[in-house]
Amino acid sequence: MTVRIAGICGSLRRASYNAGLLRVAVERAPEGMEIEVLDISGFPLYNSDVEAEAYPEAVHVVRERIRELDGILLSSPEYNYGVSGVLKNAIDWISRPPATSPLLRKPVAFMGASTGYGGTLRGQMAYRQEWHFFRAPVFSEVEMILPFATTACDGDGNPTHPDVLERLDRYLAALAPWLEAQRQKG
Ligand code: FNR
Repeated sequence: MTVRIAGICGSLRRASYNAGLLRVAVERAPEGMEIEVLDISGFPLYNSDVEAEAYPEAVHVVRERIRELDGILLSSPEYNYGVSGVLKNAIDWISRPPATSPLLRKPVAFMGASTGYGGTLRGQMAYRQEWHFFRAPVFSEVEMILPFATTACDGDGNPTHPDVLERLDRYLAALAPWLEAQRQKG
């Protein structure tokens, strides 16, 4: 069986290192795992008045797709040692309403690229704290950080350094069976 997961990027930048990391993860996903990139660039700022009327179309599409998929892989920058506001806003939209949210018990994994030395480790911890609320399994077997991204990626943001690609392969190779195990637990 193949596990199918959503890939969501926390940066809207054209040559984003995090979008590049996700693109390369899609290409290098091992057999038995497929990553489908979902687009959050059209999400408006969260407003419960709007939610009370209807989910905006861009939000609706992503929410319903996440329900159908087996998990989520977030690739996000760290902003000021915390989460990306763009992705936080998207998570808030998808998290509604808490009792029937598509994020409830949805397995999740984090990775990220930054130009600094921390490689988004602090930001990933901040996302982990949020996922606590969704009562969801969080992948912790292997961590995937990409520090000093300017020296490890090409001009389009794609990671090219062999060490990074090797670490990404190890990360994905551990993630696939973990997701399969989560799916079997139901
Ligand atoms: C950053 N950056 C950053 N880097 C880091 O390692 N730790 C941090 O806390 C921050 N904080 C931060 C805040 C804000 C507002 C910006 C705009 C940037 C730098 C960040 O790693 C860099 O801009 C990356 O290129 C962002 O990822 P994308 O857009 O390339 O995916």
